[in-house]
Amino acid sequence: MTLPVPVVTIDGPSSSGKGTISRLVAQRIGWKLLDSGALYRLVAFGGIQRKLAPEDVAGHVEVARSMHVEFDSGGPEEKILLDGQDVTARIRTEQAGAGASRVAAWPPVRTALTDRQRSFAAAPGLVADGRDMGTVIFPDAQLKVFLTASADERAQRRHKQLIEKGSAASLAALSREIAERDLRDSTREVAPLKPAPDAQLLDSTGLSIDAVVERVLSLGRERGLW
Ligand code: C5P
Repeated sequence: MTLPVPVVTIDGPSSSGKGTISRLVAQRIGWKLLDSGALYRLVAFGGIQRKLAPEDVAGHVEVARSMHVEFDSGGPEEKILLDGQDVTARIRTEQAGAGASRVAAWPPVRTALTDRQRSFAAAPGLVADGRDMGTVIFPDAQLKVFLTASADERAQRRHKQLIEKGSAASLAALSREIAERDLRDSTREVAPLKPAPDAQLLDSTGLSIDAVVERVLSLGRERGLW
């Protein structure tokens, strides 16, 4: 598969900081951004809105094919619109994350989202954030990063994020949910969470956001991408 533009993939487990790092890297180099996790969250959320049974695979495939999604990054915070409705906050809950992980394990749902994800590759380049960006969606990406952090640190980051948003959260429950989601994402048969053989492993435990962004930027510079 020849890529129309250069692509950087940033994969990794939940709460590894991929979303934040990908957004900041894309801003710094002026490239487009694909938040692929949001698409899985939208499929699960769209299923609830259409009152589908949780195990209705065909129904969720239809949501994946037909949903109209807009990522609006014009304002101070990015907005995600599903069929014209702002659902940003509603798809960011732990429950929506668990729903996403459930529908993401179904191969036909993944297939239904493949072309949509590839269509984000547009000039001058794309930073793609997810679980299988470097392994399945953009196997020919020019730079692949696999971002990790210890499970403890990820639970603490998530806890802090939720408290800042004013949601109550128990650290113990979050640790458990993160461990469950990691296990489901890394043991599923299709596109399991694992680093591409040619990915750069980047462990962000104990590193600041700025330090991780700088590391990704220097990896791209070494490759002459910017
Ligand atoms: O990254 P985020 O937490 O938003 O992803 C939500 C869920 O969507 C993940 O737990 C995973 O199951 C699924 N996902 C996936 N493949 C991707 C991105 C997300 O399976 N590329």
